[in-house]
Amino acid sequence: MTTQTPETIPTDFTRLMGCAYPIIAGPMFLVSDEGLVSAVSESGGLGAMPSLNWRSTADFRKAIQKVKTLTNKPFGVNIITNKANTRQHADLDVCAEEKVPLVVTSLGSPKESITKMHAVGCKVFCDVTTLDYARKVEDLGADGVIGVSAGAGGHAGPISPLVLIPYLKKHLKIPVVAAGGIATGEQMAAALLLGASAVQIGTLFIASREAPVDASYKNAILKAEPEDILLTKKISGTPASVIRTPYIDKVGLELNALEEFLLHNSKTKKLMKMLRAYLGSKTLEKAVSGTTWKEVWSAGQGVGLIEEILPVQEIMEKLIKEFQSAKGRL
Ligand SMILES: Cc1cc2nc3c(=O)[nH]c(=O)nc-3n(C[C@H](O)[C@H](O)[C@H](O)COP(=O)(O)O)c2cc1C
Repeated sequence: MTTQTPETIPTDFTRLMGCAYPIIAGPMFLVSDEGLVSAVSESGGLGAMPSLNWRSTADFRKAIQKVKTLTNKPFGVNIITNKANTRQHADLDVCAEEKVPLVVTSLGSPKESITKMHAVGCKVFCDVTTLDYARKVEDLGADGVIGVSAGAGGHAGPISPLVLIPYLKKHLKIPVVAAGGIATGEQMAAALLLGASAVQIGTLFIASREAPVDASYKNAILKAEPEDILLTKKISGTPASVIRTPYIDKVGLELNALEEFLLHNSKTKKLMKMLRAYLGSKTLEKAVSGTTWKEVWSAGQGVGLIEEILPVQEIMEKLIKEFQSAKGRL
């Protein structure tokens, strides 16, 4: 059994993206900033950030340029492609102009992202939670899918990762990345064994020194158990994973009947989604900065395996060591 740290873990994903390790630090709203993203890329993984973490497209461009000054390794950007994101076209143009190596699309069609990013030689992976949707993005020309399973932080899918990954792998030709609940190298080894070409990890990187969120959020991740992770529709209208807190208990997990009606009515749907996204983001913004008693902290079931706050470099080294040791045991 060897626990020596390998210089690379070659997979379809690392070969395609040119990084050392098959680990994406998943884009996280209000969490992934230039420091966190570049630290992950510098440590051999691939850091990703949502364009909406910046207040304007101009600020977002500056953030990309800052990342490029901090690392010359590949990194990624998430574009939310549903109708509620009115900035998606402009942000995507910036990604193409700045030749962002990887665009990750979520919540809507990746068609425009694929056309624009392929034209400049960059890659597009799409978040998927079902095979049906994964087939659609493969047909559109996506370079890979990120299978977001049950237990993930952010918008979790409904299917167990033990099923989702081999199921996607069996039916698709493009690489599959496993996301949801992964916080150790053993799980990473399991994901690769199931057919994943990489893992996308979110929650674990919130418990990093570099994550620009309040200590109360990081400590809540250390304290929480998988049983504390609840799915709420209150943030964006789509079920999202949050840590159970007195505030979450107070407001409940479901939308009221009027909100549900407005979200599903064709005339009010778009406006309602935008309003929900706006209100949800304001609440989250205050919660991550620790300036409110309204504790809404997004995290996945991997909280049960996270015990300390470490610098990104150490998190990466730990993951690789655990991965090697698990491989040896197999
Ligand atoms: C706080 C938080 C915010 C997130 N924001 C986004 C986002 O803006 N866009 C996106 O595509 N995924 C988002 N995600 C999902 C992550 O990119 C990743 O897929 C997920 O965290 C993986 O599950 P894990 O947290 O269990 O590791 C978010 C996740 C968390 C925990």
